[in-house]
Amino acid sequence: MKGIILSGGKGTRLRPLSYTNAKQLIPLANKPVLFYAIEQAVEAGIHDLGIIVGDTKEQIKEAVGDGSRWGIKVTYIEQDAPRGLAHAVKIAQPFLGEERFLMMLGDNFTEESIAPFVKRFRDDESINCFLFLKRVPDPEKSGVVELRDGKVVRLVEKPKVPPSNLVATGIYLFDHHVFPAIDRLKPSWRGELEITETIQNLIDDGYTVDYHELEGWWIDTGKSDDIILANRLALSRLRGCVDETCLHGETDVSGLVEIAPTAYIENSVIRGPVIIGENTRIIDSYVGPFTSIYHDVLIRNSEIENSVVLEHCEILDVSRRIESSLIGRHAYIANSEKKPKALRLVIADYSNIQL
Ligand code: DAU
Repeated sequence: MKGIILSGGKGTRLRPLSYTNAKQLIPLANKPVLFYAIEQAVEAGIHDLGIIVGDTKEQIKEAVGDGSRWGIKVTYIEQDAPRGLAHAVKIAQPFLGEERFLMMLGDNFTEESIAPFVKRFRDDESINCFLFLKRVPDPEKSGVVELRDGKVVRLVEKPKVPPSNLVATGIYLFDHHVFPAIDRLKPSWRGELEITETIQNLIDDGYTVDYHELEGWWIDTGKSDDIILANRLALSRLRGCVDETCLHGETDVSGLVEIAPTAYIENSVIRGPVIIGENTRIIDSYVGPFTSIYHDVLIRNSEIENSVVLEHCEILDVSRRIESSLIGRHAYIANSEKKPKALRLVIADYSNIQL
């Protein structure tokens, strides 16, 4: 069975963080969210994966490569513009052929393993489409599903008045009947070929659409401002691994902590769960629970917790503890002795600063 993962589109909802960067590459516990989707697919036995790419294709290709690190084959499928989830499936048809397939969104993060459901779908040809659903407090932001007598009867994309609190998460299983159902679509109010309408077409044509309500958490990081929460959840899976040769001076490490072998920690307190990436230096500082610090970061004489710091940041001599913060790539935060004593800021569009 093959799979496709959608990693096209534009990251406008996560501005400015993903303004230039693919939103699927935002790291959770120092691992791009897309990699969690790939690992879910691999765990479900899928070794031939198509990745739909758009404007950010070079970044995605560089991060994922040919798939050999997961022992799989990756094929890139280019989408000229984000014309909708169903459009992405349509252009993947030559890759997918007539086989039953898994479709995932590259910016969704799910706790429960999908492997048993994928295996069941592979073997049970009486099911034409399978959905993974979740009850959420804000269904109007997703594709909403209506059940009757335990059966899926209706799907509506982001309705103003949701008929239920049950939504389709970014994981779907289809057989080849999906392609004629897409061919009948017209662009929706948002100008896209919608996957929800595709599934509605399948239902209306009498095909069998089955589902499972996901257990555990599901986060659509593409629209969530809760990267910090998703990061906490990802960190809770840490195994903990510290190479003692990274630790220098009076350093104290406790709890679940993962430190890359090329990191350098000196005279600092690290209280897990924490992950620290390649070539990152932490000097005379405190890094508290639920913090991910990506690669090539320098933190000196500062305190931080419950935060996500992306690559190549510098945090120097900051007198107040940084908390619940999301710090984008190449950010520079430092104390300054310059007169007049004032805040000097160079801030990207849509930034959010609370002093
Ligand atoms: O997250 C689940 C929801 O995903 C479902 O409940 C909705 O029914 C479904 O339409 C979808 O809604 P979103 O508005 O969240 O989709 P979004 O535009 O954010 O795209 C999801 C992913 O697919 C994202 O990683 C970008 C990628 N994508 C998107 C489009 C529109 C593509 O690769 N190509 C596209 O044309």
